Amino acid sequence: MTAAGGALIAIESVAKRYVTSSGPVDALDNVSLSVAEGEFCTLIGPSGCGKSTLLGMLGGLVSPDRGRLLVAGGPVTGPDPRRVATVFQDAGLFPWRTALENVEFGLELQGVPAERRRRRAGELLGPLGLGGFAERYPRELSGGMKQRVAIGRALAIDAKILLMDEPFGALDEQTRVLMGEWLLDIWRRTRKTVIFVTHSLHEALFLSTRVAVMTARPGRIKSVLELTMEYPRSMESPEMVALRAKLWSEMREESLRAMQ
Ligand SMILES: Nc1ncnc2c1ncn2[C@@H]1O[C@H](COP(=O)(O)OP(=O)(O)OP(=O)(O)O)[C@@H](O)[C@H]1O
Ligand SMILES: [Mg+2]
Repeated sequence: MTAAGGALIAIESVAKRYVTSSGPVDALDNVSLSVAEGEFCTLIGPSGCGKSTLLGMLGGLVSPDRGRLLVAGGPVTGPDPRRVATVFQDAGLFPWRTALENVEFGLELQGVPAERRRRRAGELLGPLGLGGFAERYPRELSGGMKQRVAIGRALAIDAKILLMDEPFGALDEQTRVLMGEWLLDIWRRTRKTVIFVTHSLHEALFLSTRVAVMTARPGRIKSVLELTMEYPRSMESPEMVALRAKLWSEMREESLRAMQ
């Protein structure tokens, strides 16, 4: 079931103010965005503009002060791991669990019997490029591998919606490009609805069906770019070069404002 207008996710006039000991911070102001099923929608915007706050709201971890968020037509009232899985910037793996046991975690919470969850997690490790690493602990894995385990943990519960908050932010550029290619492949095969946060123009343009540019804090949606080019995309095509320039000029303006 989807909300009116066919959107799987509807963010309607959402605002958020944090009250801190040094005064209030308006993180988001009047943000509206709808995302259709199967989309890869990227949020890009200056540091502190409320991207993580918005993902937190979609994941049911942060509540809005104004406006509402709907998933499949119903309001978000709290975490719903069967429907929404999140990958955080820091992989957040349990150090005492092996790669396989980390991937199994969500299934364990769902009460899936041990044998079944082990099989499901095991099947995921191959496509994640971690086939030979099931029994390794996080400290024995590289940064890119840890992120893949974190993504595996999110994929294992088979939620329709995947929220990804700068999942490759901590990786070197080369690994990051490869991880982007890998994620694209996973997304195209699983047809999940992805909301992805990044600071990378390359990632935004390479991966997304839509890019929402946010303003400096308080974050609002400044513009939305529709990307209709076929995958995999050539980043050197004239069309892509022009889009990159356009995206950068919007980002630059907001990043400068954020620094004032
Ligand atoms: N729990 C909190 N308590 C108080 N202020 C907060 C809290 N979480 C976020 N903020 C503030 O709200 C604003 C938005 O933060 P948020 O983390 O959503 O931004 P962001 O766009 O994800 O930034 P970045 O790109 O650096 O990750 C920031 O000014 C931040 O300091
Ligand atoms: Mg953030």
